Amino acid sequence: MGMSSNLKPNIEVVPDPEHLARRSIEIFVADATNAIQKSNVFYVAISGGFTPKRFFELLGESPDSIGLDWEKIHLFWVDERYVPPDSPWSNYKLAADTFLKRVPIPETNVHRIPTEESDFKASAWRYEETIRSVFDIKADEVPQFDLMVLGMGADGHTGSMFPDSFAPFDTSDLACVVYVMDQKLNRITLTHPVLRAARHLMVLVSGREKAQILKQVMTGEPDEVQYPIHVLWPVLNKVTWLVDKEANSLLAR
Ligand code: 6PG
Repeated sequence: MGMSSNLKPNIEVVPDPEHLARRSIEIFVADATNAIQKSNVFYVAISGGFTPKRFFELLGESPDSIGLDWEKIHLFWVDERYVPPDSPWSNYKLAADTFLKRVPIPETNVHRIPTEESDFKASAWRYEETIRSVFDIKADEVPQFDLMVLGMGADGHTGSMFPDSFAPFDTSDLACVVYVMDQKLNRITLTHPVLRAARHLMVLVSGREKAQILKQVMTGEPDEVQYPIHVLWPVLNKVTWLVDKEANSLLAR
């Protein structure tokens, strides 16, 4: 592989999207159980998009998931599209429609990214304040999520960090606004330092339309501007890539 980082990606190939969702549940349950045993709390941040939908459905159906001590789970989002929480585009709504009402998580443990302010920056700031207060960290500290669930777009984006976008690189902010020009949709995303500080990150990649980009990001030199997912390269040892056969089809050759 042509990556200058000497860390190798840990890629688990699963046969299809259903296995991908089931394996995601196993990882979620294992990480939650460990964190709760160790620290009495599990901090997790999830993404949106199409890929995690089945995993989220299973979160609301699987006995292993429902049996978790949800009172000790704090749920956050990696990113959000700047739409009302009942919009079909909302990442919060995806979780609300799939598992939120089926697991016994207290409402006060659900920390969605606010999108009601007329000023996007005020929303990012409010979200940051929420994170700081739930994690009980000071102004110069970065929260350490136990698990972050990420996806990857066909252009190599992750969270709402898009190629050639305005997501700041060197920042001490925990969340920021991203102006996505071609989608006419603003977004709020956790920033690079927050992603990199997580204890464990799981990237879900499914389908033939991801095969080309997966090959590019796995074999190309680290370049966070072109491929924002490369933000993970310095911490690859903490990343589990769950990839289905179709997405892996070009790498497998
Ligand atoms: C979002 C996500 C985003 C997503 C990728 C992959 O809000 O869209 O958080 O980063 O993970 O775009 O999305 P798909 O699973 O739909 O391909």
